[in-house]
Amino acid sequence: MNTATALVEQEADIALRGIRSLDDLERLRIYFLGKNGKVTLLMGHLKTLAPEDRKLFGQQINRVKVFIESGISDLKEKLLSTDTPREFFDETLPPIAPRAGALHPITQTLREICQIFTKMGFEIVDGPEIETEFHNFTALNIPLDHPSRESFDTFYTPSKHLLRSQTSTVQIRVMEETKPPIRIIAPGRVYRPDTVDASHSFMFHQIEGLLVDQKVTFSNLKGVLNLFLRELFGSKTKTRFRPHFFPFTEPSVEVDIAWGSRSGWLEILGAGSVDPNVFKAVGYPAGKWQGFAFGLGVERIAMLRHGITDIRHFYENDLRFLRQFS
Ligand code: PHE
Repeated sequence: MNTATALVEQEADIALRGIRSLDDLERLRIYFLGKNGKVTLLMGHLKTLAPEDRKLFGQQINRVKVFIESGISDLKEKLLSTDTPREFFDETLPPIAPRAGALHPITQTLREICQIFTKMGFEIVDGPEIETEFHNFTALNIPLDHPSRESFDTFYTPSKHLLRSQTSTVQIRVMEETKPPIRIIAPGRVYRPDTVDASHSFMFHQIEGLLVDQKVTFSNLKGVLNLFLRELFGSKTKTRFRPHFFPFTEPSVEVDIAWGSRSGWLEILGAGSVDPNVFKAVGYPAGKWQGFAFGLGVERIAMLRHGITDIRHFYENDLRFLRQFS
């Protein structure tokens, strides 16, 4: 056999034995049979030979070509069958950690707040989001001509139901069904037809609190809320109780915390002693019970704690935002 063809056949034989993957096999094919492959080049060489030598040389090249082609097709079949590992697998490499999901920042803040109150003995309760005017307004001592009842402040359904605009509805639902002592918090969604901007959304979350018992004073309210705010914002947090008005509490306050280096005050929640008219609406006997209630916005607190300046981030599900809370 011609030395050149014999050498190519030998080289191909050795190369075929070393192949472990389909990629390598393809590289081998190109190396021998491609446009500039070794066998192809030998064939080109054929033309330069004297006519009488061409026949034998041609047969020899053809032999090498068939040898390589059948080697490739055998190997290909082997590599494609499942019991042959196709890729080299290095089991000493550390695994790629799967990305675990995380709770939404609103859920995280909501659960943290609920946990502080459950430690103080409050029970978590739920209420419907589609409500009656009675539970959202009337029972809460909100007069019929109050502007918050207007359709530009509350979403109504065609059946005269509404999407609750505050979690205070749950105060009513719980008192309708339960005799005091009551100590509950009610987290959930509320809806208001606000124009969406950096600080407004037509849906947000509130947490309502209600405590009813035989002897409940305004100092009890202050004690509970001071403890809560110091648990949430740090033990040195300064608070301020500022007179305010809510139809369903009397007296009412807004509670501020000292915030920022220039010690400004920031409103955090609304609260007050339960108005006797509310007890009357749920059928409690006059003068028998006392209580306090409070309500706070979860988004607002989450924004303060994390330095978020646009409420819309919470609802857009941009992973670049959400992953900062995992
Ligand atoms: N419901 C009030 C609001 O949405 C908050 C509040 C709740 C105030 C309970 C006092 C008592 O603004």
